[in-house]
Amino acid sequence: MSGQTIALVTGANKGIGYEIAAGLGALDWRVGVGARDDGRREAAMAKLRAAGADAFGVPLDVTDDASVAAAARLVEDEAGGLDVLVNNAGLTGGMPQQPTMVDPAIVRTAVETNVIGVIRVTNAMLPLLRRSLSPRIVNMSSSVGSLTRQSVAGEQTGPISAAYAPSKTFLNAVTVQYAKELRDTNILINAGCPGYCATDLNGFRGVRTPEQGAAIAIRLATLPDDGPTGGFFEDAGVVPW
Ligand SMILES: NC(=O)c1ccc[n+]([C@@H]2O[C@H](COP(=O)([O-])OP(=O)(O)OC[C@H]3O[C@@H](n4cnc5c(N)ncnc54)[C@H](OP(=O)(O)O)[C@@H]3O)[C@@H](O)[C@H]2O)c1
Repeated sequence: MSGQTIALVTGANKGIGYEIAAGLGALDWRVGVGARDDGRREAAMAKLRAAGADAFGVPLDVTDDASVAAAARLVEDEAGGLDVLVNNAGLTGGMPQQPTMVDPAIVRTAVETNVIGVIRVTNAMLPLLRRSLSPRIVNMSSSVGSLTRQSVAGEQTGPISAAYAPSKTFLNAVTVQYAKELRDTNILINAGCPGYCATDLNGFRGVRTPEQGAAIAIRLATLPDDGPTGGFFEDAGVVPW
């Protein structure tokens, strides 16, 4: 390895993931642009490279075992290792999501991508991350997954949801379990909330820019060696579970 920090961002072709890739590229890191669609990945890479980022493309569908295994091989071949994984790819699963009427397929879709996808990608990349001197894993969660906030009247907690919001609660729980298992290693793993950002995910109704949303991921990707692990953070600090 060249000494350059190597990162992989899933779902990096648009929205917050694109801005995370751009932000890490601006740090002179080598950035793997994980995206499942060839055309969207190429377009994002062209834009990132035009902005000066050292970007390489990583075909990656987080719901597909073979795709994720191939992505790990590609990162190893292309970059020789991996220091930082940002599990950003995510979706709502579809609407409506009121528990009393939700289609179970919507719940399954949200969990398959937002939780199982993260586990699949993380475990495929762990052999590479374990060789890094300062490995970091960032899971893009959401404060709508905070049971505390969901339980407080008047909090901004998004629409009633039996799929997307609970999938982020599940992701937070899984993040804590990874941190527990990896506590005696140098790997720091944390969940981050980008805030309500205008992206495809919410029909561009968010009030923050994707670039603002990327800031927490960049902060967690660049934690010092004595930084936290197993936590849940937004720009303003710790998010309650
Ligand atoms: N926007 C917000 O207000 C907000 C708030 C809290 C948390 N978040 C979280 O932030 C993350 C990024 O969201 P965003 O708002 O930037 O959404 P977005 O613009 O819809 O982007 C989502 C990204 O995930 C990718 N993706 C979805 N399913 C995938 C799969 N199976 N394999 C690989 N990539 C997949 C999408 O790829 P395609 O283009 O191919 O679909 C896209 O690149 C998500 O985890 C989301 O839950 C967002």
